[in-house]
Amino acid sequence: MKRVLPTLVFFGLVTMTTVPVPAADEAAGAAPAAEAVTVQAAAPAEAPAADQETANNREATDQSSGAGETAEDSGDLQPVPLTDADCVKCHFDIASDLDAHGEAHQEVGCTGCHEEHPPAGTDTIPSCSNCHDPGESDHFALQGCTSCHNPHHPLNITFTTVAETKPACLTCHPDKGEEMAAHPSAHADQDCNSCHNQHGLGQGQYQTCLDCHEGHSPDMTIDDCLKCHKPHSPTDITYGEDIPVDYCASCHEDISSTLAESGSKHSELSCVECHDGRHGKITPCVDCHDQPHDPYMHEKFPECVTCHRDPHNLAR
Ligand code: HEC
Ligand code: HEC
Ligand code: HEC
Ligand code: HEC
Ligand code: HEC
Ligand code: HEC
Ligand code: HEC
Ligand code: HEC
Ligand code: HEC
Ligand code: HEC
Ligand code: HEC
Ligand code: HEC
Repeated sequence: MKRVLPTLVFFGLVTMTTVPVPAADEAAGAAPAAEAVTVQAAAPAEAPAADQETANNREATDQSSGAGETAEDSGDLQPVPLTDADCVKCHFDIASDLDAHGEAHQEVGCTGCHEEHPPAGTDTIPSCSNCHDPGESDHFALQGCTSCHNPHHPLNITFTTVAETKPACLTCHPDKGEEMAAHPSAHADQDCNSCHNQHGLGQGQYQTCLDCHEGHSPDMTIDDCLKCHKPHSPTDITYGEDIPVDYCASCHEDISSTLAESGSKHSELSCVECHDGRHGKITPCVDCHDQPHDPYMHEKFPECVTCHRDPHNLAR
């Protein structure tokens, strides 16, 4: 809104620029405009080459700020209110941070938050609750906002430096809390930040399974892990139809080799055709075969496995 920065901040030039400052000793009746003095400002090379339009807009308002509210008629020295244009002179890093990553706080501006300045003022640091009403949402009722949000780059958050993120995450992702409660696991006992480094799902924003575990076989990737395990309820093991026999065999080697060596027609099926959907589930024989024998016989021996003793080796 009112924040004004000299152009150099935005283009990273090491240059001279003029900043209007109040001329305190100006005689009464003199021209109201402030005198321009020259200020040396060295912009670091990595200063963001930001958003030219915003920069220009701000530059346009630069003319009107800082000037005018100066000398009394008496010519006495008076405290001069700081404007947003002044802040950058001494707090360059913060000004460029806000300019590049301030998001909605750019519009608030420095003096929108910092109403006073030491040593004259003591109301120097605002509370978040001044503007984000704790009654409005569970999120705004949290403690320690600045452990996650630096007000000068409020959405640029590194979760790993925060002691505990879970209560905050659950204010917006309550479904994850419900999932973890329904399926207790070692993961449910961890903080969200043990896996999530930043907000989102792009590469590098969470740790992969293989950072902390070994797969059941050497060629498994994280995509494979997620075919059987959900990260927030890893013990609730469900899967689709695309699980190769090898992956089941990594733990059930004996059954896999029995089936393969049996030579019966079942060896042409994959494990998940008879154990579909959920780990441990067993598809009844009749789902695929109905009752192929004499009805009287099925009545007398309702369990197929009474005679066909091993579905993994029908010859047995
Ligand atoms: C002439 C240089 C100068 C200018 C201009 C300036 N500051 Fe400062 N600022 C300082 C110094 C030096 C300190 C450290 C003062 C102290 O610790 O007592 C400081 C401290 C602060 C603090 C920390 C206060 C605290 O209680 O810890 C804030 C916030 C701040 N400035 C904001 C601003 C804002 C906003 C502006 C523009 C409106 C601004 N400053 C303009 C030099 C400046
Ligand atoms: C949305 C509100 C907000 C805006 C806008 C804002 N600040 Fe701050 N600023 C804060 C808060 C809150 C803190 C205290 C942060 C903390 O305790 O970790 C702070 C801290 C500071 C400090 C002292 C601590 C430090 O990081 O060195 C300075 C100096 C400062 N701000 C300057 C500025 C300047 C200059 C601007 C404009 C370019 C600005 N702030 C814009 C809220 C704001
Ligand atoms: C002077 C008022 C003011 C203060 C103080 C303030 N904010 Fe904000 N903040 C706003 C406004 C206005 C917005 C934009 C509208 C909204 O989201 O409510 C905003 C937006 C945000 C956003 C979202 C940014 C975006 O672009 O979506 C975050 C995060 C945020 N504030 C955190 C904080 C935290 C944390 C503090 C305390 C350190 C704080 N704010 C202090 C006024 C303030
Ligand atoms: C553990 C980290 C954490 C803490 C603590 C935290 N937040 Fe947030 N906050 C987030 C994350 C993550 C987002 C979502 C950011 C995004 O969408 O990129 C967010 C979003 C926001 C937003 C923008 C979305 C909205 O709901 O308007 C505001 C404003 C905000 N937080 C203010 C606060 C305030 C005020 C506090 C303290 C009372 C606070 N936050 C505490 C992590 C945190
Ligand atoms: C203020 C609300 C808020 C907070 C706090 C918050 N999130 Fe989010 N989060 C969102 C929103 C909104 C989205 C976008 C939702 C979407 O795209 O489906 C999102 C998206 C995500 C995504 C990416 C989802 C996707 O499909 O791309 C992950 C991962 C995530 N959040 C994790 C977290 C973690 C971990 C925390 C705590 C450290 C957290 N969030 C805190 C609001 C929040
Ligand atoms: C053991 C590691 C781990 C922990 C702990 C963890 N997550 Fe995740 N989370 C992941 C992984 C991996 C993904 C990506 C899943 C995918 O791509 O299908 C993910 C995805 C997400 C998503 C987006 C996709 C979705 O399922 O909606 C959100 C939101 C999310 N996590 C929130 C949280 C929250 C909140 C917590 C803490 C309560 C948390 N996570 C704890 C590993 C974890
Ligand atoms: C940040 C480290 C970390 C990451 C990343 C992680 N885990 Fe874990 N996981 C653990 C810890 C710690 C345990 C508990 C001790 C153990 O079993 O090794 C655990 C336990 C488990 C368990 C057993 C749960 C129980 O309650 O017995 C499963 C299954 C599991 N992890 C699967 C996964 C999968 C799949 C992924 C990827 C989506 C993953 N883990 C990512 C740390 C992690
Ligand atoms: C074919 C399905 C499947 C795939 C793919 C899979 N898992 Fe598992 N995983 C299981 C089953 C089933 C168990 C439970 C075994 C039990 O009940 O003891 C398990 C258990 C675990 C455990 C608990 C400790 C242990 O070894 O029993 C961890 C950790 C684990 N898996 C990690 C992973 C990781 C990491 C990946 C990817 C590299 C992965 N899993 C891929 C099915 C799978
Ligand atoms: C990480 C090792 C592991 C993997 C991978 C694994 N299992 Fe298991 N499975 C076990 C263990 C251990 C048991 C016995 C304990 C139990 O009942 O959970 C078992 C039990 C079973 C049972 C019998 C359940 C019962 O109630 O008697 C079936 C059926 C089964 N697994 C099928 C599969 C299939 C099909 C796959 C591949 C999709 C698979 N398993 C992958 C470890 C594994
Ligand atoms: C034609 C269907 C079929 C196929 C294919 C099949 N199974 Fe089974 N499996 C069964 C049936 C039926 C049972 C239950 C047998 C019983 O009740 O005695 C069973 C039981 C099991 C059990 C638990 C009892 C035991 O023998 O330890 C495991 C583990 C198992 N199967 C794993 C596998 C694996 C691994 C594969 C793939 C290599 C596989 N099965 C392929 C039908 C099948
Ligand atoms: C997922 C479906 C499925 C399930 C469940 C299933 N089978 Fe089969 N079974 C087949 C298929 C497919 C064949 C091959 C049929 C063909 O080629 O005509 C077969 C063949 C057979 C054969 C003939 C074997 C051969 O080599 O000629 C027998 C006997 C048999 N099944 C018994 C059983 C029994 C007993 C069960 C339960 C323990 C069972 N099946 C469960 C799909 C299944
Ligand atoms: C009392 C013993 C017994 C019971 C119980 C039994 N069978 Fe059989 N079944 C046999 C015998 C013996 C053969 C072999 C006949 C042959 O080789 O000609 C056979 C053959 C089969 C065949 C392959 C030949 C065909 O008809 O296609 C299938 C499939 C089969 N049984 C399925 C089942 C199913 C499904 C059940 C349970 C619903 C079942 N059987 C129950 C004894 C039994």
